Amino acid sequence: MGSVRIGIAGMGNMGATHARHVLAGRVARLELTAVSDPNPARCAAAAGVPAFPSAAAMLRSGRIDAVLIATPHYAHPPIGIAALRAGLHVLVEKPISVHKADGERLLAAHRNPAQVFAAMFNQRTDPAWREIHRLIRGGALGEIRRVNWINTDWFRTAAYYASGGWRATWAGEGGGVLLNQCPHNLDLFQWIFGMPRLVRAFCRFGRYHDIEVEDDVTAWFELPNGATAVFIASTGEAPGTSRLEITAEGGRIVYERDRIEIRRNAEAMSAFSRAAPQSFARPETTETVIAAADRGGQHLEILQNFTAAILDGTPLIAPAAEGIHSVELANAMLLSTWREKTVDLPLNARAYARQLRQHVRQSRPKAAAESTPPAEDFSKSFGR
Ligand SMILES: NC(=O)c1ccc[n+]([C@@H]2O[C@H](COP(=O)([O-])OP(=O)(O)OC[C@H]3O[C@@H](n4cnc5c(N)ncnc54)[C@H](O)[C@@H]3O)[C@@H](O)[C@H]2O)c1
Repeated sequence: MGSVRIGIAGMGNMGATHARHVLAGRVARLELTAVSDPNPARCAAAAGVPAFPSAAAMLRSGRIDAVLIATPHYAHPPIGIAALRAGLHVLVEKPISVHKADGERLLAAHRNPAQVFAAMFNQRTDPAWREIHRLIRGGALGEIRRVNWINTDWFRTAAYYASGGWRATWAGEGGGVLLNQCPHNLDLFQWIFGMPRLVRAFCRFGRYHDIEVEDDVTAWFELPNGATAVFIASTGEAPGTSRLEITAEGGRIVYERDRIEIRRNAEAMSAFSRAAPQSFARPETTETVIAAADRGGQHLEILQNFTAAILDGTPLIAPAAEGIHSVELANAMLLSTWREKTVDLPLNARAYARQLRQHVRQSRPKAAAESTPPAEDFSKSFGR
């Protein structure tokens, strides 16, 4: 196979953006040979490419080797399972599913290792996140003690929430900021620090917008080594903040506004905090600053990597199997809020699905507005 023939399921904002990239030849050895969307007008972004009214018809068409799933989240597992069963390679948008049980069903359908199955966690291509991942996973600063992560620069307007009938409802989207904007941050969290063992969260539903799902989150995690993390997210604050602070035995990392500041302790801090009582010394530190304005290859790099994985066996930047962790974290934060108590991980997937179903049953139907979200809102999806 000299190139990969891909079909896109869901030609809304994200699907159409991917289509334009592929049609413009920005991804070597990747050809767009089919698209599908129940709304035929949406396929206009890929004029001349055969369009199908359903993903199932496109999967059966024989025109594609791979599918990129860019539909609303609830449709990711059923389309992904059908595509894997049809022997296709699959690239699924984030989140891989709305809830953990659905994500497990999707991952279980990936039985053939020759089929490439990846997730669109484009922020893993950002050089700043790669550097922080390298430093923490490589143990450059020793054991983690504390993480503080503020993610309040996901501001969204009322027009954004009105732009799709599925958005910001339990029945249509299955969550709010945790399921739509934060999958990137939650994926980076687990990629850099691993999964917590305990989660306590306080989600506020419709705090800033007329929506039924969460648009404001304050959460506490405990990692297996006892380190703690605070994770804050909102779509209702402008200007918002994107700030990650990591405190470790060997120093501190602060990443904010295109700058990573690393302060290294000359000696481990526990040598001082547990030293003889008469010592008032604290560790000497040295500072390094890394400029971090470059965003990396983002979606294009994930598409290129997916293509290379199929054609050359290149390792994936973001295997779909790793996408279950961000779903589990989001689910745990919602469950903790609903139950008003700390949740142990691994999460009981069936218990969560049951609780989510209750919210789906009470979900208020929205007028199915189908306008395109304003560009300034959508472009924020590419930010941190
Ligand atoms: N990676 C990123 O940076 C990023 C950014 C934005 C959105 N996304 C993800 O992309 C997905 C779509 O988001 P969006 O903003 O493009 O939504 P959107 O509402 O603009 O587009 C969704 C499209 O899917 C179509 N659709 C619905 N059901 C379908 C089905 N069964 N088969 C085929 N098409 C179907 C709809 O008609 C619509 O055109 C979401 O899961 C979202 O989380 C990812």
